[in-house]
Amino acid sequence: MKLDSIRREYRFAALTKQSVAASPIDQFKEWLNDAQRANVNDFSAMSLVTAETGAFPQSRIVLLKDISVDGFTFFTNYDSQKGKAIEKNNKVGLHFFWPELERQVRIDGVAEKTSREASVQYFKSRPLESQIAACASAQSATLTSRSKLEEQYRSLQNALQGDHPECPENWGGYLVRPVKMEFWQGRESRLHDRIVYELVENEWKIKRLSP
Ligand SMILES: Cc1cc2nc3c(=O)[nH]c(=O)nc-3n(C[C@H](O)[C@H](O)[C@H](O)COP(=O)(O)O)c2cc1C
Repeated sequence: MKLDSIRREYRFAALTKQSVAASPIDQFKEWLNDAQRANVNDFSAMSLVTAETGAFPQSRIVLLKDISVDGFTFFTNYDSQKGKAIEKNNKVGLHFFWPELERQVRIDGVAEKTSREASVQYFKSRPLESQIAACASAQSATLTSRSKLEEQYRSLQNALQGDHPECPENWGGYLVRPVKMEFWQGRESRLHDRIVYELVENEWKIKRLSP
């Protein structure tokens, strides 16, 4: 594979300081809607980046489950690697890439646990299989074998006899409150548009960055 000759031009759209919404959340919602309408696969998937002092930064995909004026919500196991990292440093990064629209969004934000009530409510909305899997898997812990995981799943499934499990105490949501959001739109000849919103004294300031 000759990667160094792979390139394409970006011509889908443009972005200006005048055309974007005053609130980055509104701008984000518009782009998320565009991504859904464009049938982008897993359009709500985002990289979540955590960073602990002196350690390698860690990135993984999670699914965005809610967006509000407060920020971005995803759900996970609080005892996972990401949960432990957020415990030590709640400053995180979120990153969306929608190739069909030649767009990316980068978010710096501060993560906090959602209320137990919100976590339980979302847990209950998940299919039974996903609920059992969340209970049966100690996310990010070392497993001796795949069959061990399947055994844990089956034994819980049998014990429940069709009932739904309680939302585990160590499972729930994080709300990421944004402090900075960058919208990137690919443009011709690599002269891309980058519009950044930064929260300064509770107000969103907008500027353009060089590509
Ligand atoms: C498309 C996709 C969606 C995912 N959604 C989630 C999610 O919403 N929550 C979650 O905990 N893990 C999700 N994962 C798995 C994570 O990427 C990761 O493997 C897991 O959370 C363990 O990460 P950690 O060890 O860094 O905590 C998803 C993975 C993919 C590829």
